[in-house]
Amino acid sequence: NRKVVIAVDGYSSCGKSTFAKAIAKKLGYAYIDSGAMYRATTLYGLQNGMFDANGVLNAPKLIAALPHISITFRFNGEKQRNETFLNEACVEDEIRTIAVADKVSRVAEIGEVREQMVRLQQQMGKEKGIVMDGRDIGTVVFPDAEFKIFMTADPLIRAQRRYDELKAKGEEVDINEVEANIRQRDHIDENREVSPLRKASDAFILDNSHMTVEEQMIWVEEHLNRIL
Ligand code: C5P
Repeated sequence: NRKVVIAVDGYSSCGKSTFAKAIAKKLGYAYIDSGAMYRATTLYGLQNGMFDANGVLNAPKLIAALPHISITFRFNGEKQRNETFLNEACVEDEIRTIAVADKVSRVAEIGEVREQMVRLQQQMGKEKGIVMDGRDIGTVVFPDAEFKIFMTADPLIRAQRRYDELKAKGEEVDINEVEANIRQRDHIDENREVSPLRKASDAFILDNSHMTVEEQMIWVEEHLNRIL
């Protein structure tokens, strides 16, 4: 079988990463979570006082710091998971908090930030045999990806899933707050000037509102049979 690039884009909390990971595992491909890179950059901003008391980002300060932000992924054998590292520190758990989710779309609006992330993502994918999820993978990062998927689901169902996930991790959250965060991120992601969230014209839509992971895998296998 030839090695290809698979781009998985879509709205927040659609289960993109679960799905993309399952595809990567099935094919023996690498999985890259591009959102983790924007999240780690946001964490850097939070750790270095780049948001004021009202939560407003000092964009020039973050842009100036970009050369000092190094993001890598490393496999943790003990936990059997890929972990995100920010300048040699494992930040895998910290980047999943609501504090980061709350700010990340503002960081992802910045053109200079996107350029740095896209460059890194393209490097990671140049050998192919990769599944990457995000918002602009099929449109900007890998416009020539052999298989593009655009995921969507009912916002209320997405909020419930994210709520269950945060709850399971022991985070104290209010479901209305989770839903508001999802809607706000969708809004910012779709309306930003630089590479907004869009379905690539050649992407296949997957609405998984009422689908199990198994059903989604059957869907993907049918497509893969044709592509590979
Ligand atoms: O996928 P995840 O929810 O972790 O992404 C967090 C945020 O990072 C998104 O809401 C979006 O603002 C930004 N993002 C992006 N482009 C990507 C991946 C994520 O703008 N390729």
